[in-house]
Amino acid sequence: MRLHPHCIASSAGEGRTVASPALVRQALTHADCRVRPPGLPVPPALQGSLAGVVFGRLARMNDGQTHQALKKALQQALDGIAPDVLQAWADRAAATLTADVPLTAQALTDCLYLLPGMTLAQGFGAPDHQLRAMGEDALAFVRCIAPGGSDAEIDAGKAAAVRLLAALHAMPPGDLMRGLAEAMARQDLAADEDWLTANAMGLLFQACEGCAGLLGMMLLQMADKADACPYAAMQQVLANTPPIRNTRRFPAAAFRLGDERYAPGEGLVLSLDGEDEQGGLAFGAGPHACPGAAWAQIIALAGWRALRRAGLPAAALRQYRWRRSPNARVPEFY
Ligand code: HEM
Repeated sequence: MRLHPHCIASSAGEGRTVASPALVRQALTHADCRVRPPGLPVPPALQGSLAGVVFGRLARMNDGQTHQALKKALQQALDGIAPDVLQAWADRAAATLTADVPLTAQALTDCLYLLPGMTLAQGFGAPDHQLRAMGEDALAFVRCIAPGGSDAEIDAGKAAAVRLLAALHAMPPGDLMRGLAEAMARQDLAADEDWLTANAMGLLFQACEGCAGLLGMMLLQMADKADACPYAAMQQVLANTPPIRNTRRFPAAAFRLGDERYAPGEGLVLSLDGEDEQGGLAFGAGPHACPGAAWAQIIALAGWRALRRAGLPAAALRQYRWRRSPNARVPEFY
């Protein structure tokens, strides 16, 4: 496999890196390790904006009871969609993105990034003509709240968040949105519709770069071996080069991990590479582990099939650079 992950910037910034999978798992499952620094629920660059309000309501950015209730609702909503329905959404999005053959390198990169958002958008109820715009806004929103965003990306993402929220409020809800509303009602979270739309946006946010990296790195294997098996390619990517390379945690109290001591609020960058006796960490572990693992795999396989159907030439896969990101591994073709 032609992967050179060491070519990607190795410093994730914002804290000491923990590389041992067993210690990473310990941190991810420790009650004192929080997803946000104490007293800073929203990053300063987003404070006062709608994107910041959404950020503060995301399951991914909360701990404790609020998180538990949101997480249960999200998992129920995702599990409530039958695999063949999800596959039909993913196939539809993939077919749209690969309709213009021969595919340019830019179209290929767009396909990686837009496929997850356009798949989820159908679940939220978006009509066909709105899918691409929602996929693009989802990506802009990701760029503004993922670590490492530039000032321009943060501004573009704030504007995209406003459009996404308006679109989600305006459209008649699709199966996924209805399922999420019902699951949130069961968790007594239904009183405020804004928590619903924020966490719908959270699904878009979480899906984009993880799925893009998963599919992109599967394609790198197709470049080496035209008849590569997509399932095997996917398992290899997840085991060897997780698309989300690391995640961050912040101790709520003085905290010891292995031989290292951490002060309250000090950032830990937890590497998701490698595996311990409990398995790999590509989808995280503990209370914040990814609820979308099954979805991610269906979406990536739909992308693979559509690209094969579009007759993707191996040459198109030879030139790529890695996405500039402290935590996502996505090959961008050019
Ligand atoms: C449709 C696709 C996906 C959806 C809907 C989704 C959704 C989510 C959500 C909502 C969370 C936050 C859970 C929480 O905080 O309790 C999450 C976490 C996570 N996701 Fe996914 N995800 C998707 C794809 C992926 C992919 C492809 C990867 C990489 C292989 C990935 C890796 C992760 C990881 C590592 C976390 C944990 C982050 C942490 O603990 O800080 N996800 N995902």
